[in-house]
Amino acid sequence: MSSSPITLSAEQQALFDAIETTREHIFVTGRAGTGKSTLLNHLSWNTSKQIVICAPTGVAALNVGGQTIHSLFRLPIGVIADRKIEQNADVRKLLNTIETLVIDEVSMVNADLLDAIDRALRQARQRPLEAFGGVQVVLFGDPYQLAPVPGDADERAYFADQYRSMWFFDAKVWDEADLRIFELNTIHRQHEEEFKAMLNAVRHGSVTAEIAGRLNETGARPAPASGAITLATRNDTVNAINARALAGLPGRVLTAKAEITGEFGGRAFPADDALQLKVGARVMFLRNDADQRWVNGSVGTVTAISSTVFVEVDGEEHQVQPAIWEKFKYSYSPATKELKRDIVAEFQQFPLRLAWAVTIHKSQGKTYDRAIVDLGQRSFAPGQTYVALSRIAALEGLFLTRPLRPSDIIVDRDVRRFMEKAQAIPAIRA
Ligand SMILES: Nc1ncnc2c1ncn2[C@@H]1O[C@H](COP(=O)(O)OP(=O)(O)OP(=O)(O)O)[C@@H](O)[C@H]1O
Ligand SMILES: [Mg+2]
Repeated sequence: MSSSPITLSAEQQALFDAIETTREHIFVTGRAGTGKSTLLNHLSWNTSKQIVICAPTGVAALNVGGQTIHSLFRLPIGVIADRKIEQNADVRKLLNTIETLVIDEVSMVNADLLDAIDRALRQARQRPLEAFGGVQVVLFGDPYQLAPVPGDADERAYFADQYRSMWFFDAKVWDEADLRIFELNTIHRQHEEEFKAMLNAVRHGSVTAEIAGRLNETGARPAPASGAITLATRNDTVNAINARALAGLPGRVLTAKAEITGEFGGRAFPADDALQLKVGARVMFLRNDADQRWVNGSVGTVTAISSTVFVEVDGEEHQVQPAIWEKFKYSYSPATKELKRDIVAEFQQFPLRLAWAVTIHKSQGKTYDRAIVDLGQRSFAPGQTYVALSRIAALEGLFLTRPLRPSDIIVDRDVRRFMEKAQAIPAIRA
């Protein structure tokens, strides 16, 4: 993650100021492409508060230069309920120094986990009567896109028993604390009014026959033979498309092995540990380039492989060096009495992934000029179709492997209930 050259819009700036100048708990939300991640990146570079950034999954944490919630708070896996939370002196000191806790991808955090964070902070800071032990909590995410992982039957039974829903907004801590909801309104990813309106209808499950007709008419045309990524619901579809396409190229497969130092913890690799490439392979960048030659999500073609990889993006060939992903861990520095952030592990690999296809889940957060949306037999998760369609920057970049059906558009009932009554405050009033 690097400091970005983007100038914040007025609504992003207003929200940055609200976070900086108040101690309120804030939920930063907004439709796909409204600049939530951009604002979070800006905050992490420019805040004057003692902030700690965390996220529910390893990859999400890496993307924002933060730590996973479980490792930061030393929480056990699975439902936590009232299980004891062990904290040694170092953890207590660390949690005592935080002024503001930022949680990215909060829509994937379940209510039990948010309540455990609350309890861990009260315990460490010895403020049993104050929500989050007095820490300001700033949450980023869009519940219309990604949902918490449902868990096994026992977990689902626990939630059914104890909570109104699994969602973070139904955590018990909100009985004792206020959450101010700010919604970013300006979409920066798409510019066509018609397409933005269509995406909005998909988001809210209010797709009319006319809108569906327009989307299907536009999308139902032969996909370009090359140059468009397939966004699919299922992993096996994605792997099969990539393997078939790689095998179809002439020449030898070369494998780049990742260099891993420190403890990365099994599944949380940010890229393939054995990356298979051939000249001609379609690849996607997994990081922004410091020199802005590509961004996270840019798609290109491998033109040569030597000690580095050469990739052509939009007619220009670039030499790509391996990138380093740093796994961070926060701790307390007695010397400065401030938080410090140390690198505990590094993962070095070319910031590339085969990109004839990618799962819709992994495409979250990204932008594509054009894409083939493959919903397979059916879309099976709330928000899935919305995430897929909203990756595409313009309507003419949309291709569909089959027409959309009403059953592809699933809106979670609890999300609708929360977001509709939330009366989100626009980040800036006109
Ligand atoms: N103030 C701005 N000025 C110009 N471009 C911006 C601005 N803010 C964001 N963008 C651009 O808009 C696109 C979407 O931004 P970003 O990824 O931050 O949105 P998001 O709300 O996180 O979207 P998603 O919900 O899909 O993750 C990016 O290409 C980003 O660079
Ligand atoms: Mg984002």
